[in-house]
Parts: sequence; C-alpha cells; structure tokens
Amino acid sequence: MIPVLDAELDRHLDGLYAEHVADLERRYSQALEAHGWDAVVLHSGSLVKRSAFDDQYWPLRPVPHWQHWLPLAEPDGALVVRIGQRPKLWRLAARSFWERPPPPPTRAFLDVFDVDEVADPADVKLHLGGGRVACIGEDRARAASWGLGATAASATAPLAAALDELRVHKTPYEVACLAEANRRARAGHEALRSAFRERDASELDLHLLYLGATSQDDWETPYKNIVALDENAATLHHVAYGRRSEPREAASLLVDAGATCRGYGADVTRTWVKGSGAAANAFAELVASVEAMQARLCAAVRPGLSYEDLHDESHRQTAAILRDVGIVRGAVDEAVARGVTRAFYPHGLGHSLGLQTHDVGCALRQARPGNAFLRNTRDVEVGQVFTIEPGIYFIEDLLERLRAGPEASLVDWKTVDALTPLGGVRIEDDLQVTAGNPPTRNLTREHLPTGGGLP
Ligand code: GLY
Ligand code: MN
Ligand code: MN
Repeated sequence: MIPVLDAELDRHLDGLYAEHVADLERRYSQALEAHGWDAVVLHSGSLVKRSAFDDQYWPLRPVPHWQHWLPLAEPDGALVVRIGQRPKLWRLAARSFWERPPPPPTRAFLDVFDVDEVADPADVKLHLGGGRVACIGEDRARAASWGLGATAASATAPLAAALDELRVHKTPYEVACLAEANRRARAGHEALRSAFRERDASELDLHLLYLGATSQDDWETPYKNIVALDENAATLHHVAYGRRSEPREAASLLVDAGATCRGYGADVTRTWVKGSGAAANAFAELVASVEAMQARLCAAVRPGLSYEDLHDESHRQTAAILRDVGIVRGAVDEAVARGVTRAFYPHGLGHSLGLQTHDVGCALRQARPGNAFLRNTRDVEVGQVFTIEPGIYFIEDLLERLRAGPEASLVDWKTVDALTPLGGVRIEDDLQVTAGNPPTRNLTREHLPTGGGLP
C-alpha cells in the first residue's frame, strides 16, 4: 500500500526513484549501443509563447523523455546520458526577477546525477563530450546551438522509438506515481459528485471546484478537465465550460478529470444522473449498465490478451446494453457488424497511460478497419498501465447519419430522442497489468467509488 502522509509518501517515492533511475541508466545504455550512439542529450523544453503577437509564455510542459528521468518543470535544462556513465544534469540558473520555475517536488535527483548549473544554456555545449551524441527535444534551435542540429529528427527517430518502448512497461516508481495521481483525483470527483447532487452548479463552477479540491492550477492537470452537463457530454472532450445551469427534471454530469504526481497523470471518468421521470430512470439504467460492462472488461484483462480484441468485445457488450435499454432492435452481432454501435460509441476502449495521458508505445500497429480511434493495438503485457473507458453517447452528427441510412430501422428513435438531452456516459479507470493473481491492479477503484444514479 502507498503511504498517504506527504513526508512518508515522499520518502517512499524517493526510494523507488533511485531504483527507477538505476534501471533507466541500464536500459538507456543498451538502447544507445543498439542504435550506434555514444550519448543522448535530453532537453527539458523551451517556453512557448501564448501568441506570436504578445510577450507572454505558457508554463513549461516538459519533454516527456526528460520527465522520464526528472520531475522538474524547468526550461532549458539538459540531461546528458552517456553509455556506462553517471548521467550529468545541467540546470539553468534562475536569475530572472520576473518569473521562476516551480520548485522541484523532491530533491532526490541531487543524489543520483552529477548536477551543475549554467548561466546560459549555450554553455552546455562545452561539456557534451565526444562521440556520436543525439539530442531529443522539441526545440531544434536549441539542439543546433549545442552543435547537434544535424542529428535532429530523422537521424534520431530509431533511438527515439527505442526510448518510447522503455516507457511502455512501468517501473515500480512509475506505478507508485500513477497510483498517487489517482488518489489525488479522488477528492475532485467526490466534490463534484456532491455539488451536482446538492445544487445546480454550472460547468465552470464544477471545473473550478475540481481544481480547488485537488489543489491543482489549471495548467497542472494532466489534461484539461472535461466537465459536461447534460447534452454537452456528447462532445467527447467538452472543455468550453458553460457559465449557467438551469434546474431540469433530469440532469447528467460527465467528469473526465485527473491529477498528477511527479509528471505522471491519472485519467478518470465518472458519470452521474439525477432527477425523476422516465428519461432520468432510463439514463440511470444506462449508466449502471456501462459501469457493469466496464467492470467486466477490466476483469477480462490479462497478459497475452489482444487489447484490440477486448475493444471488439466492448462493442458486442455495448450492443447488448443498447438492446436491453430499448435503443437497438435485433441481434447483437448485426448491430455491431452494421456499424450501429459505432454511432453510439465512436472512440477506442482506452490507451496507454503514463507521462502523457495518451502515452507512447502501444499504438505501433494500425487498428483494424472500423477501429479508427483505437489508441492501443498491442497485446497486454505485465508492466503496462492503460485505461479501460467504454462509453455510450447521443451525438447529433453521428445519429443524423444513422437515421438517414439503411440501419435506421434497427434503432428505436423515440428512446434515442428521450435520452439525447442527457448527452452520454463514460466510465474510465486506470489499470496496471501485474504478474500476480489477479492479473491487474485497478489504480482508480482503490480510491474512487462508482458513478451512477444519485438519490
Ligand atoms: N481524458 C482523455 C481520455 O480519456 O482519453
Ligand atoms: Mn482516457
Ligand atoms: Mn479520460
């Protein structure tokens, strides 16, 4: 179990971090050697302007390869990883009296790297050492200033792919960070559940409440909170928050929001419904059915399973739910084969999770036709962390096309029209694949209750 007192948690994570870095040193050396490099420089990133026409900058989103080693959001840092040597960290001395980067969440990195400060990022150039040196980062100009411009992009692509692969199987440190991120998300989801039950809060109110409850600034969240009331839940990534909320006979709330720990993010969705009347009851049944399906899909995950096969299975189960709640008529297989479920459930079952919400390394193979938005086509392996997030939505554009086509007769449009004002439902948890029994650990359910109907 993860300790929850901050100091205790930090000690726990720092211990795991030292092992994580030792493991990375070993695996980076192997990757460098395999691809013919002597060293690689990881650039933390450069500040990006909010607009080319003004002089304000976004807070830094560090380059993930850098974050894999370091939980530091400092611009123009360089980590030099050389085969068989202790990595060297160059930090830019913060001298500006206008702004400063956020303080590090831990000082454990001081024990595992040789650390030096430079007044100007160009000074790093003098210390890179010889041999073939690759550079990974977003800023080509910075790489060029280090004399590494010629090796950017295409030349480093095979190495970059090998380094992505190192992020697929999470170390115990990474899993601990992801578990902690899930724990932090809990307070936000619980606050929104209560607020939604007790009053008619607007989407903006709820978004701000989530930030407060999880003690996050907007830019610190792993992705922009998706807070969708009623029909807005049919916009899968609804972030244009409404300012008002009218009392309604039936209301739904979909919250897809996470939290971070040392750069690693949770990705969690819950859907709630309240009110009386036939639509509220039918929608509550739909939410409960999607919850139950999501739990069955989570329970089916095991090493060796094809994630895409599980995605296909989620379509069969979605068809059964649509039939049971009276939306779709006829056989389950027919609803899937004729694309009816894709109109109600257009996205993929889930994706790899880590430093990026849609993490790297699990979508190297193209999905089968019909699974266009599936972001995980890999076989399930021990050490992976990914989401399981089925959903059912009433999306106007997709339903219009369905209504106009030959499959229209498979659908009960009266039920669809009654539920459309409630938007849709998605349930999302983060799973770690283990070598044990059970073969998964649900990092989300350890902390967060279910969604569904509210009294
Ligand atoms: N929060 C974005 C997603 O679930 O993929
Ligand atoms: Mn997700
Ligand atoms: Mn999500």
